[in-house]
Amino acid sequence: MSDMAKLELDGKTIELPIITGTENEKAIDIRALRAQTGYVTLDNGFMNTGSCESKITFLNGEKGILRYRGYPIEQIAEQSNFVEVAYLLNFGKLPNQKELDFFNEKIASFATLPEGITKIIDQFPTNSHPMGVVSAVTSSLSAFYPEFLKTPLTDVDRERAIAQLLAQVKIIAAYFYRRTVGKNPHRSHPSLGYASDFLNMMFYEEGYEVDPEVAKALDVLLMLHADHEQNCSTSAVRLIGSSQANIFATISGGIDALWGQLHGGANQRVLEMLEAIQEDGRGYKKFIEKAKDKNDSFRLMGFGHRVYKNFDPRAKIIKKACDTILERLNIQDPLLDIARGLEEEARKDSYFVDRNLYPNVDFYSGIIYKALGIPTNMFTVMFVLGRLPGWMAQWKEMREDPTLKISRPRQIYTGENLREFTNIADR
Ligand code: ACO
Repeated sequence: MSDMAKLELDGKTIELPIITGTENEKAIDIRALRAQTGYVTLDNGFMNTGSCESKITFLNGEKGILRYRGYPIEQIAEQSNFVEVAYLLNFGKLPNQKELDFFNEKIASFATLPEGITKIIDQFPTNSHPMGVVSAVTSSLSAFYPEFLKTPLTDVDRERAIAQLLAQVKIIAAYFYRRTVGKNPHRSHPSLGYASDFLNMMFYEEGYEVDPEVAKALDVLLMLHADHEQNCSTSAVRLIGSSQANIFATISGGIDALWGQLHGGANQRVLEMLEAIQEDGRGYKKFIEKAKDKNDSFRLMGFGHRVYKNFDPRAKIIKKACDTILERLNIQDPLLDIARGLEEEARKDSYFVDRNLYPNVDFYSGIIYKALGIPTNMFTVMFVLGRLPGWMAQWKEMREDPTLKISRPRQIYTGENLREFTNIADR
């Protein structure tokens, strides 16, 4: 089979190399197209553009496949834990016990925040959205660790940055949460394990002990969110990181991209939508009709995905985990019935069927977070904690690539042609 694609353009035939991935995915390499023809490609929203080659995550949206470094997400969720997954994504292999212990120790060595950082957090109004706070404070870390401003970073620097952000972002999130509920901060105890430590920092009070079932449920959610190849926030991380911006600014940009309601912010919106349906009391059909109405900007939150067109394998696992954890905690949440009914109704409706719109990772995750005691405005922060290892693995892979180029898309200009400047008095 030919490994070149032929393109006929302006009476000329141009040959473009075909790139084949390890799962037989194919791409046409158009890098030389402009030099050869003067043409660029146009792809609003990057519907069909590969922005990089990557060894980290494989995703097949048609078949509902998701694998981290070759391992199926179903096996990961069943058998692994979040720190191990962070190691796997970043270092390309499952760690042995010694490697995992060392990684955990490294994370544990960043179990405090600089005093200046806690002072910054203390200045935010307690009604600030925690995503804005977590993003701003993550960026502020650059002021306290100027050693990360140098380029290039060494391998040791990169490994340290990964451990440091895994440790400190969760402390920032929990510290701010406690402020919002008028509680003193509670220090990190990394020996509890990643998820338990976070829950303990969030909810500690006299007599509080982390329920291991709750910690396990959170750990699974974090693993399921850990990477998702070149999604919006990860692409933002790669784009910012390609300019050799520092790691804290780069991850802060990823957090901001995730915040949007079409991306990670959807998990908060799903719960708010379910509550609105509950409050409305007239059933979910009205909301389905709203979502279908092209004159209404309302969308069924937690439904649809750019890449998954049959089902989101993470949503399948989360839906099951949701049943399990609510049963274990003996919680009857009417929102779960509403979510189930909404899903059932939408999946019978030709609007959603024809457009391949299925529940995504965000549809049921909020109901679990709610059951774990996480406030609604912190849901997207939970996504940040989960996605951090993926962002850093993608950043690391990119920065270790000796052929790295700054990301700089082209455009097709559709504005005014050349015209004479007029002085303000003549306008
Ligand atoms: N509710 C109603 N209609 C929808 C929805 C939805 N949730 N999602 C897509 N559609 C419709 C669109 O209106 C469009 O219809 P049309 O062809 O008649 O114009 C069609 O389905 C295709 O939608 P696009 O927006 O073109 O699909 P795209 O791939 O660009 O968007 C996205 C994907 C952003 C996830 C979209 O499905 C959406 O807005 N979903 C709701 C928000 C959400 O849950 N986001 C989380 C995604 S997962 C994640 O990022 C972690």
